[in-house]
Amino acid sequence: MKLRDIAAQLGCRLEGDGEIEIHSLAGIEQARAGQLTFFVNPRYGAELRRTSASAVILGERAEAAPCAMLRTANPYLAFARAMELLAPRPAAAPGIHMLASVAQTATVAADASIGPFVSVGLGARIGARTMIYPHGTIGDEVVAGYRERFAAEHVVVLADLLPPELLEAMRDEAFGIVDRFGSSHRTTFAITDGTPRNMTTVGQPVIKAEGPLVDAFYFAPALLALTSRIFDEQVHTCPYPGEHYVISRLTDSGDTHGWHWDDYTYGIILVLEAPDYRDGGFIQGVAGTSWDKENPDVHGALLKGVVRSYAPKAGDAYLIKTDTTMHRVYPIRGQSRRTIVNMTLASTADLSREMTHETNDTLFGGGEEPR
Ligand SMILES: [Fe+2]
Repeated sequence: MKLRDIAAQLGCRLEGDGEIEIHSLAGIEQARAGQLTFFVNPRYGAELRRTSASAVILGERAEAAPCAMLRTANPYLAFARAMELLAPRPAAAPGIHMLASVAQTATVAADASIGPFVSVGLGARIGARTMIYPHGTIGDEVVAGYRERFAAEHVVVLADLLPPELLEAMRDEAFGIVDRFGSSHRTTFAITDGTPRNMTTVGQPVIKAEGPLVDAFYFAPALLALTSRIFDEQVHTCPYPGEHYVISRLTDSGDTHGWHWDDYTYGIILVLEAPDYRDGGFIQGVAGTSWDKENPDVHGALLKGVVRSYAPKAGDAYLIKTDTTMHRVYPIRGQSRRTIVNMTLASTADLSREMTHETNDTLFGGGEEPR
């Protein structure tokens, strides 16, 4: 704390350099540079003259000291206030208080102390010996970064959204479902300009019955809270159950989920396994294009727009503005496999829009009645 600020808070008259940094208090004989001391009793005049303190609190008529001086009519009172101002705060126990909320993807040093009602955001890093006092908030710059990226490209990859244990559990569940219930498609859709769907799929009704973890993830309030912040508008679970969640898997060389748009505004895709990009299986998007179901024009969209490619890895998720971003999965090759869970999120405007669900009904078998 600067001596000038201490003087102001103590109501003292400063003589000397107000820019000096003071970090603590000490007795007149022990005080060193960076410390503030106190002089009242004339018996200590000799000590005053040779003190190594950076500053001293003393009376209006006391003799001059060899350092900066805070003069006051009541040195006792000023010193008592200085103790409050400069006393070290009691050290808090290391660890995360049970009433603190720390995002899964935040990292907190083992000896940091996170107080009650503290909120630590996504991707935040809390370093060694850090103390965060009760009710403190460490903002999530990560979410702000995602929001900016999404606004610019209408696609954003959320790296490591699934912590390793959750990824493992999701894989167990989803792989089991697709192994038992997957149906293989080799088809093209006229409604998306003849683009291919060479993939194995499982639709919502089966997942609803067999996949409690996927269902819980989709209906977690935290998912809507997070994605709404990134999309910068309130989103909702899809009003059409068939598009809540579907699983798709690419297994054979040439397998692809070809260029298409979706009916609803937003999608979040959880990547459970993905090939190295050299074997394809990465995603591509062309933002700012639109789906005319009567006259779909994939080549026109490719010529008009900018194709961006992204290679999310297992454990990542990605968000797409699916209604106006033409997108596909680049065909895989070699011995590689890609398995994802695709979840649809609706904008508020979507809720009152008529949707026809042609591609979902064909690939994923439609959905059950609303829950
Ligand atoms: Fe899609």
